[in-house]
Amino acid sequence: MKMTSNQFPDFGLTPEQRREAVLGHYFEYPGMDGERGEIWCYTDAYAYPPGATVRLQVSSTAALFELEIVRDGAVETPVMKRSGIAARWQDTPDQCSVVGCGWETTLEFQVGADWSSGAYRVTLTAEGRDRSPIRCHHLFIVRPEAGRKPGRVLQVAATGSWTSYNTWGGSNHYQGITGPNRDQYATTVSIERPFCRGFVQLPIDAPRVPLEIYSAMAVAPRYPHMEWAYANGYSKKYASSGWASYDSHFFRWAEREGYAVDLASQHELHFNPEILDGYDCVVFVGHDEYWTWEMRDAVDTYVERGGHAARFAGNFMWQTRLEDGGKRQVCYKYRSRAEDPAYRSADQTRTSGSWEAAEIGRPGASTFGLNATRGLYVGWGGCAPRGARGFPVYRPEHWAFAGTGIYYGDILGAEGHAFGYEVDGLDYIIRGGLPEPTQDSGAADGLEILALGMSSLKEESADIPADDQFLSDADAKFVAETLIGDTGEAAVDRVKRGCGMIVNFPRGKGEVFHAGSCEWVAALMRGDAMVERVTANVLNRYLKR
Ligand SMILES: [Fe+2]
Repeated sequence: MKMTSNQFPDFGLTPEQRREAVLGHYFEYPGMDGERGEIWCYTDAYAYPPGATVRLQVSSTAALFELEIVRDGAVETPVMKRSGIAARWQDTPDQCSVVGCGWETTLEFQVGADWSSGAYRVTLTAEGRDRSPIRCHHLFIVRPEAGRKPGRVLQVAATGSWTSYNTWGGSNHYQGITGPNRDQYATTVSIERPFCRGFVQLPIDAPRVPLEIYSAMAVAPRYPHMEWAYANGYSKKYASSGWASYDSHFFRWAEREGYAVDLASQHELHFNPEILDGYDCVVFVGHDEYWTWEMRDAVDTYVERGGHAARFAGNFMWQTRLEDGGKRQVCYKYRSRAEDPAYRSADQTRTSGSWEAAEIGRPGASTFGLNATRGLYVGWGGCAPRGARGFPVYRPEHWAFAGTGIYYGDILGAEGHAFGYEVDGLDYIIRGGLPEPTQDSGAADGLEILALGMSSLKEESADIPADDQFLSDADAKFVAETLIGDTGEAAVDRVKRGCGMIVNFPRGKGEVFHAGSCEWVAALMRGDAMVERVTANVLNRYLKR
């Protein structure tokens, strides 16, 4: 029998510090490292075509810095190195998370015509006032040129989630320093700011959100990823979003396996939807929570015309709007009915709330087959902390499982911990041992449920004092309000039990495959052979390999 520890990892924090790590608000801001000094940077866009000019904005306490850029794929390919670049400290507005940093451009350079599509990691190094190095990381995407790309996969990075979770400057779509008491999350966030620490690069031992341990009987859950972040100076949200925790694992895996992969940001779906037409297979991975109406139109049209969308991702939850050419993202979320002007406008469909809210009326299931409000949390806090770590399989005969040797009742991806920490599902019934979507689930015609595991919308724990709960019942109440119009106990009880599914369905001339879990990419990173095989089966079928 494999022995697994039942002790939470310890990062040397006191109980008070552990509480602050989970419930406090800590973030990156200019001046945070004090006397030692700092260097920060951002680019003027998330993605550039080959040949474009990149504008790099730098604020540094050191007068000179060194720049290094590498393409971060199956192998790391250095593409640029420059030293002795002049910089200065630049003023930053208090509400930079909302309005952008507004720094002057420090350096311009061209994307080389030979820089293949992918993610390019920027590292700036300078000398701190104590003579030790100071450093920052950024990342930009080189997107493909338009045109037919037979045999190639297009991966769309979950950049809407990157923007939403970025803690730099104090505000994101979760916590913030906006409002009269400087304690509200921001309903508008800017891309013109550095990425928070841990979005671009992470040490290999940085905990992921789902618990690695099976906690002992009747102990209060802890949140190792936030404790680690607090103890090591990383963003509180490093494990919730970003290239390092999510998108990179698919991209590197696919290249290692010999797939030709191009990379785009979600801005391309919004502003240049024709980019999809060049591909037989478009892939979405990781924690992919924030989309605009136009981005969904792009995918729906692409699939209708014969395209293939493969989503190995979780948490298709919020509609956003883009402003100022994509420089700012708007999402009122829980406050949309109270505060979003779109809710009170003639066309309520663009309200920046849950896709399943009646006023929006466009459940995620109509694009990707699954909904966030029927899924949600598993594997952490008081939400199934000892739950399934892979997808319980119900239809092993499906083509996606060919060659895996998996059986009915097996757990796909348990080894690589593919299931968590946010999953997407549908309302279902089980008949004769097989799940099917209920009549009013909103499932697409011809949708088959291949696998299904339990999840929870509500942190229910006799072992955690209510004051110490991180997830609490807030999301369950919000979903109850959204779907039923009531936040009472009976309504919460009706919505609080969720699930995560793998589904497959045809649409128009195309097809959608969706494994609805954030952590699918973690199983690829860990070399889970069955998860790798299923992923390859999907890509190979869609690429006609
Ligand atoms: Fe999320």
